[in-house]
Amino acid sequence: MTVAVLGATGMVGSRVVAEAAARGHRVLALSRKPGEGDPNVTPVVADASDPEAVRQALAGPAPTGAADAVVLSVRTFPADREFLVRATRTVLDAAARLGTRVLVVGGAGALRSPDDPDLPVADNPAYVPAEYRPVALAGTAQLRACRAHADADWVYLSPPALLEPGERTGGYRRGTDTLLTAMDGRSWISAEDLAVAVVDEVEIPGAERHITVVHRSSTT
Ligand SMILES: NC(=O)c1ccc[n+]([C@@H]2O[C@H](COP(=O)([O-])OP(=O)(O)OC[C@H]3O[C@@H](n4cnc5c(N)ncnc54)[C@H](OP(=O)(O)O)[C@@H]3O)[C@@H](O)[C@H]2O)c1
Repeated sequence: MTVAVLGATGMVGSRVVAEAAARGHRVLALSRKPGEGDPNVTPVVADASDPEAVRQALAGPAPTGAADAVVLSVRTFPADREFLVRATRTVLDAAARLGTRVLVVGGAGALRSPDDPDLPVADNPAYVPAEYRPVALAGTAQLRACRAHADADWVYLSPPALLEPGERTGGYRRGTDTLLTAMDGRSWISAEDLAVAVVDEVEIPGAERHITVVHRSSTT
């Protein structure tokens, strides 16, 4: 497959690039300042604020052709909800025209709380302290933008509450729209295992549009 990753230099994106390349996929690594590396990875300069640059990048360099899938994994500091929603629409529009599937790596805030399905995690101080609420709400707005798109083929992957660089175990537990907790009582996964889940979903798309994953210990 040809897999484009927008946000390829980020914590998540760089691991998705590595995971996809290790499995033999052709990878288009999109960012504003792309680096060099693996021969299976083609660095492409693309600013998510520029619809034409995104369209051209997803159309792929000749003779490769359009990406089969694009992983959207961008973020800004501080959180910029307008940018995130616009960039998401831009990717969904371009992907819909090219027939490219979209996997959005979004936020845990868009999930339901495990003990109260009507309470979004973004509004639950047990998981989202006040200072992270704008980030969580930006992720929720991003999911709404996906749901409002008439044509694109998308899936929105919410990480668990904690997502950090760590070990690649190759395993994870998968759920749909409710926050998951690992056996140790924490809602977490390594960025490496999240990348495994991303590439699994790209290779074999599931039926759900909103999914989540969590660390799976060797005993579960
Ligand atoms: N628990 C959680 O819910 C949780 C935790 C962590 C992350 N996340 C989510 O995971 C996703 C990825 O986060 P991350 O931690 O990997 O972010 P990160 O390390 O900060 O990387 C951000 C990426 O966005 C790219 N980017 C920013 N502005 C761009 C623009 N205008 N055009 C193109 N690329 C742009 C950057 O590329 P350049 O600067 O090279 O262009 C970089 O590759 C985000 O949706 C984030 O919210 C969720």
